[in-house]
Amino acid sequence: MKTIDVCLSPELIHLYPVHDKTVVVVDILRATSCMVTAFAHGVESITPFASLDECREMKMKGYVTSGERDGKKVEGFDKGNSPFEYIGDELKGLKIAFTTTNGTQAIEKSRGAKEVIIGSFLNLNSVAKYLLLSDHNVLVVCAGWKGKVNLEDTLFAGALVDRLKDYLGPDCDAPLAAQHLYNIAKHDMVSFLNTSSHVKRLNQLNIHDDMKFCVTLDQYNVLPRLKNGELRLR
Ligand code: MLT
Repeated sequence: MKTIDVCLSPELIHLYPVHDKTVVVVDILRATSCMVTAFAHGVESITPFASLDECREMKMKGYVTSGERDGKKVEGFDKGNSPFEYIGDELKGLKIAFTTTNGTQAIEKSRGAKEVIIGSFLNLNSVAKYLLLSDHNVLVVCAGWKGKVNLEDTLFAGALVDRLKDYLGPDCDAPLAAQHLYNIAKHDMVSFLNTSSHVKRLNQLNIHDDMKFCVTLDQYNVLPRLKNGELRLR
């Protein structure tokens, strides 16, 4: 039986050999939810950057610059980090350079993996279907917040473990813990997340609808994958 494990913070990734694994990077609030939404609306590619300056320079090469620091849109960038900015016909064919506080950092730290795919509640079913057919063991890398664990990414990991429970065995206790948490929260994730640290942070910025959208299950049938430093659908 193939295995599934969960790395609850990118700071722990050194504990997990990734060279032979499919890594699912998740940042529910909000980076990977934005990426999935953008691909569902026709963007051609998203190039993730850990560094703000490197991302900013991509503007000269014709890229749309997107992202945030501490939840706020970066000054001078074209777009911020709300999924609602990635909905619409004008997204078709765009090449986006993206940097965020945690999500793109987690992608950077996962680069040594056999393959890297992007997960969110919005494309949970596409992720699960892909992993069922893949030959590799799976590691879910939760972006967390500045090295610390968060609830929303852990819930996603639990939802994925739960969907795959008949086909992929847990490799440690983190997938079991995530699955238990998801089963407690699944009937009302919005209420469950109301006391979470990043929801409080987003509420201070008057962003509450983003969270409701980001916990919607199976909204989009897309699977972004990292290849040669860019995310694309194929
Ligand atoms: C991140 O990458 O840290 C997040 O997406 C932050 C945010 O919600 O803007």
